[in-house]
Amino acid sequence: MSPDPSGTIKSVLQEQRVFHPSAELASQSMVGSLEAYRRMAEQAKTDPDSFWGEAARTELEWFEPFDSVLDWSNPPFARWFEGGTTNLSFNCLDRHLNGPKADKTALIWEGEPGDVRRFTYRELHAEVCRAANALKALGIGKGDLVALYMPMVPEAAIAMLACARIGAPHSVVFGGFSAEALRDRLVDGEAKAVITADGGFRKDKAVALKPAVDAALAEGACPSVTSVLVVQRTKESVVMEPGRDQWWHELVSAQSQECAAEPMASEDRLFVLYTSGSTGKPKGVVHSTAGYNLWAHLTFKWIFDIRDEDVYWCTADVGWITGHSYIVYGPLSNGATTVMYEGAPRPSKPGAFWELIQKHGITIFYTAPTAIRAFMKSGRAVPDQYDMSSLRLLGTVGEPINPEAWMWYREVIGGDRCPIVDTWWQTETGGVMISPLPGATPTKPGSATLPLPGIEADVVDAQGEPVDVDEGGYLIVRRPWPGMMRTVHGNPQRFRESYWEYLRPKDGSFIYFAGDGARRDSDGYFWVMGRVDDVINVSGHRLGTMEIESALVSHPAVSEAAVVGRPDDLKGEAIVAFVTLEGSREVSDALIQELRVHVGKEIGPIARPDEIRCSDALPKTRSGKIMRRILRALAAGEEVKGDTSTLEDRSVLDRLRA
Ligand code: WT7
Repeated sequence: MSPDPSGTIKSVLQEQRVFHPSAELASQSMVGSLEAYRRMAEQAKTDPDSFWGEAARTELEWFEPFDSVLDWSNPPFARWFEGGTTNLSFNCLDRHLNGPKADKTALIWEGEPGDVRRFTYRELHAEVCRAANALKALGIGKGDLVALYMPMVPEAAIAMLACARIGAPHSVVFGGFSAEALRDRLVDGEAKAVITADGGFRKDKAVALKPAVDAALAEGACPSVTSVLVVQRTKESVVMEPGRDQWWHELVSAQSQECAAEPMASEDRLFVLYTSGSTGKPKGVVHSTAGYNLWAHLTFKWIFDIRDEDVYWCTADVGWITGHSYIVYGPLSNGATTVMYEGAPRPSKPGAFWELIQKHGITIFYTAPTAIRAFMKSGRAVPDQYDMSSLRLLGTVGEPINPEAWMWYREVIGGDRCPIVDTWWQTETGGVMISPLPGATPTKPGSATLPLPGIEADVVDAQGEPVDVDEGGYLIVRRPWPGMMRTVHGNPQRFRESYWEYLRPKDGSFIYFAGDGARRDSDGYFWVMGRVDDVINVSGHRLGTMEIESALVSHPAVSEAAVVGRPDDLKGEAIVAFVTLEGSREVSDALIQELRVHVGKEIGPIARPDEIRCSDALPKTRSGKIMRRILRALAAGEEVKGDTSTLEDRSVLDRLRA
């Protein structure tokens, strides 16, 4: 993909409401005013080395101090805190054990059936050490990749921390992905072990996971995988392959609860997490030890203005970056109490979330706009039945939030008193980049407001030059930051090209392009408008249109496919697929259904098209490029505007309309 210099990005949203932090909140918060925020941002801009160096020294524990802050001599490959050694698991656990935090609750977990488990920092440390020793017993060591394919159980967090402890990078694969998607990720990362579970509870059902692991590993498809560790959760029967599979409760409980954290070099690979891009194959986003740790730590502290007595809950799944940075690493690195919930709101329990808030006295709640819109739709009578007076702060992440949903969130869930932090970031950025700071930043419904200190975000045109106030453009970041991804696993060229060479300003500097369109208003506030590339955002989940197209084309009945997003009130975007069938195939409801199931099997249920339209041809340019702009308009039921003169066959358009 290359920028379309004639393509203008228009923004229609003009929101005037402003909510100022109360004087009380300002006086209690870490960064108590907009002036204080601006001073921090200014300091970070004028002397980034001392800003980040000081933060790294004061916020993290080091085994060996670092010699340099940033080495940007080979852009876009940044090296942060070189010479230093540290360990993320040590920073999340051990460092809290010498003081009052040792017996503080680190993790509160609730299963869907209502079972609750709690771990103090001391207990979590012991569990993580046992799991780390179990991994060692399986022959896993520093540098070996371990894949996790887990339900939302404490063992998911424990396994992540255990990997970090012994220096084995993890690759968490969302449990909703299919066996095929899992296999692709195991092969690409050359995983040595898989940690999984028999299954988990979701919407009042036991959902199996282990069979998908078996299918992914069948017929020697992943020769690098030598062991599979299985957590028992649902107690449904599973097949255990001798010599390869072992039960977590047998192997882990037999281990010692002492395991020294491995000193890791700052730039040692910490984890890989796959995400969709505009080309076919998901990208293995690589994060490294110290920079990621610092960014997850600092951002969590800033945006949630965390206090010792807080009970914090993020509703994400550990299979996404939000779960990594803001269920596990950010909260634990700060010594906070983090809540993890296995389930989801479901017809039998529409108030599941609000009951959890009431029951555990949750003070900070972080969720996605798609969830808020679903709650809105089922009405305020549900949340109104619960006492949510413990809440003091709300957050949202994953997609642009419409002002209506923002207002509902504030009034109904936040009782008109809790500030909302709308946090913009990505898998690639490691942590939040643009967000209000509670107590400092006045908020406007629908705006992620201002970049965090140290983040030089801007909006530019296709030539990489800044656009005017209120003008739409590409959202970019000008300087490296500690939590940035380091490369695409196995493909540094793709990293360079897709993020850092897409837009090149005249002065030749490297700028990071995120894939989003945005505008800035006269207060410098950012209004993120969504993806401008071939990525669609379904309920806050990123899906590459190319991935879904490849899945469709892999079905014998399909000859060609083009997938676009259609605006959807609930999900943000719905998936619409245009396909042409192989010569002899006839369209039927059964075939359409079969294609949907096929995509679910290839990628996962979240990627199933909401609508599939069959036709005898797709609209293409003379050079054979599918004109997605036209398909997007057709999918949305809009009139096809703009130039269609480059169409190879104008009659295709009439047939598609018909
Ligand atoms: C894409 C990144 C970051 C964790 C969840 C998703 C969209 C994310 C916001 C927001 C508008 C947002 C962007 C971004 N996005 N947060 N607050 N406002 N858009 O991570 O799967 O890497 O997706 O999510 O389009 O590029 P991800």
